[in-house]
Amino acid sequence: MFVIIKDDYEAVSLEAAKLVTDRLRRKPNLVLGLATGSTPLGLYRELIRRHQLGLDFSKITTFNLDEYVGLPRTHEQSYYRFMWDNLFSHINANPRYVHILDGMTTDINAHCEWYEDEIRKAGGLDLQLLGIGANGHIAFNEPGSSLGSRTRVKTLTPTTREDNARFFGGIDKVPRYALTMGVGTVMEAKELLLIASGEGKAEAIRAAVEGPLTAMVPASIIQMHRKATVIIDKAAASKLQGEYAETLEDAMLIHPPTSEAEIAAQGDQANS
Ligand code: PGA
Repeated sequence: MFVIIKDDYEAVSLEAAKLVTDRLRRKPNLVLGLATGSTPLGLYRELIRRHQLGLDFSKITTFNLDEYVGLPRTHEQSYYRFMWDNLFSHINANPRYVHILDGMTTDINAHCEWYEDEIRKAGGLDLQLLGIGANGHIAFNEPGSSLGSRTRVKTLTPTTREDNARFFGGIDKVPRYALTMGVGTVMEAKELLLIASGEGKAEAIRAAVEGPLTAMVPASIIQMHRKATVIIDKAAASKLQGEYAETLEDAMLIHPPTSEAEIAAQGDQANS
């Protein structure tokens, strides 16, 4: 596992965008797992800016981690809406290759199996982006989730509903259930990129990166992944004991560094 510590949220977003750009440059038809929440917003803004410079998303396939049960896609807090508002409407991803779980499905088990099949048919996830809950969850795999779990329905914990109450205007309005990729599904991605920022994530990051592997901190499973990168700011890193790199280049995770000129050249190449 590589841990990269940046000064602040903006620097985390930029560093994460560099990694995504690098992987996209190496594989234009990247199968990219995406996340929602406040943390990836800066990364998505930077990817949109890079798209405006020429970064091409036309060949990517995407899979989102999770979706609330009972929210129609038009609901302003649905993750479907989140993804279109904050990313897909602003880049040239092909909507045919965008996958987001449907929280209104009438057959949850069949729908979750279909999702797993689609991931398999796409050749598996090349890169999965992850946030982390203050309680150590990844996607909506709450503490106690089986570390081998597949896409399924999960009951949200009071902590998670409390954390997300700010988006809904009160905990009572936060759905009680969500569909989520399983920990096992996430672990099959060829590469993981976990990002976090702020003091409120420091304990979860400590437990995930340096604590024992446990289902009570589902994010600690990343210690078992063969290619996982954690990019966090100093506040989120404040409880870590180890010594870690400051840049992807230092950790030899991208080379050469991705310059703006290279992004534009990639767009030209893809469009020619
Ligand atoms: P956040 O959520 O980015 O809104 O903090 C992360 C998560 O719960 O996975």
